[in-house]
Amino acid sequence: MRNSALKAFWVLLAAVNLTAAEETQDRALAILRDNCLACHSKAASMSGLDLSTRESALKGGQRGPAIVPGRASDSRLYQAVRRTTPLAMPPTKSLAEADIEVLRPWIEAGAPWVQQTASPAPASTWWAFQKPVRPEVPTSGQTWSRNAIDKFVFKKLAENGLKPALPANRPTLLRRLYYDLTGLPPTAEEVRAFVEDPSPDAYSKRVDQLLASPHYGEKWGRHWLDLVRYSDTAGFELDSYIADAWRYRDWVIQSFNNDKPYDRFIREQIAGDEFFPEDPVAQTGTGFFCVGPNRDLFPDQSDINREETLTDFVDTTSSVFLGLTAGCARCHDHKFDPISQRDYYRVQAVFAPFVKTRVPLDRLTSLGFETAENVRELKLREIG
Ligand code: HEC
Ligand code: HEC
Repeated sequence: MRNSALKAFWVLLAAVNLTAAEETQDRALAILRDNCLACHSKAASMSGLDLSTRESALKGGQRGPAIVPGRASDSRLYQAVRRTTPLAMPPTKSLAEADIEVLRPWIEAGAPWVQQTASPAPASTWWAFQKPVRPEVPTSGQTWSRNAIDKFVFKKLAENGLKPALPANRPTLLRRLYYDLTGLPPTAEEVRAFVEDPSPDAYSKRVDQLLASPHYGEKWGRHWLDLVRYSDTAGFELDSYIADAWRYRDWVIQSFNNDKPYDRFIREQIAGDEFFPEDPVAQTGTGFFCVGPNRDLFPDQSDINREETLTDFVDTTSSVFLGLTAGCARCHDHKFDPISQRDYYRVQAVFAPFVKTRVPLDRLTSLGFETAENVRELKLREIG
């Protein structure tokens, strides 16, 4: 944090005071890029010289330092482009005089070299990173609207010359409510009771009932399970069975049904073992890491398997919890992406020390995970 604040501070200072110097720097680095990097980069460092970073340029090639900051005429790079040494660089076409006259003051100024990376546009222009602002609630549609959201809907409809649809009849309304909250249709009896219920809170009573139903967690937990790439089996050719996956699945359903606060829900998944080492239920949430595809595809290549597993952790964590796919940055920076390859591996480093462990079953049962399967497994253990 402190580092980036400091960097932002320097960038700001530079923007305020050093515009001319900065321009010289940009032009100098562009000249090197266009005329020298083909032969003097990390990939192709002829005569041992890599001009892609300041550090490597100062170190120089076989003959020693290429740049002496502050002293152009003593710098091998300048001598080469001036052709005042046996070395004529670039070897075929000489640099234009104007370009040489950029390199000189740049070296005299100390060869400043703020790395030109594929850095993101300033965060403030990215819509996804804008802090949400509470908008003014529209005043139109007073009679039709029952809440603030309705008023926004009404306003858009009106803007497009549309009228709200007619209210649904009671059986339809109830069916919609059931499907939305539990995914199951109401019984004929439930429909009749609702149609015949004259009380003004007949509808809201059903909403509360359904929110309290265990089927609520089953329906809405499923959406979460999709996000976290949950599966009972590990996919690919062998599609092996993930023996304990159902524990994580039940944990998700219980979390929804118990109205677990979202921050707690996140913590238990990303680092339940770190935050709540004494709580096996929280650690079941960390099963998030274990319910994905099988990445142990190469029998004798544990290092590759491990790398693939960590990739899955970073990719899934970023898309699920940040709502931001970072997977591409695994291999390269993108011009317009705010997540750099460096960031990617900094996140990966967080997960690197992971060790997969099993939470003992008896600790889970004692904390309310008394499912039939649990009990059966416990019995088997006692016998065996
Ligand atoms: C087409 C390839 C090519 C390009 C382009 C090129 N160089 Fe070189 N450079 C070489 C080769 C080959 C040598 C080694 C020459 C020798 O040893 O006589 C060299 C050597 C050097 C050295 C001496 C390195 C050392 O310590 O031995 C410097 C300095 C240098 N180049 C600067 C530049 C600069 C500055 C540019 C761009 C303006 C440039 N070169 C462009 C091929 C290239
Ligand atoms: C497993 C590594 C890897 C991942 C992950 C990856 N890329 Fe690439 N990407 C490469 C490599 C390697 C190249 C260069 C291919 C070549 O030059 O032949 C490349 C090249 C590209 C290029 C062309 C760049 C150019 O200058 O021509 C684009 C665009 C691109 N990738 C976009 C993406 C996007 C978008 C994603 C995520 C959806 C992604 N990449 C994920 C390895 C990867």
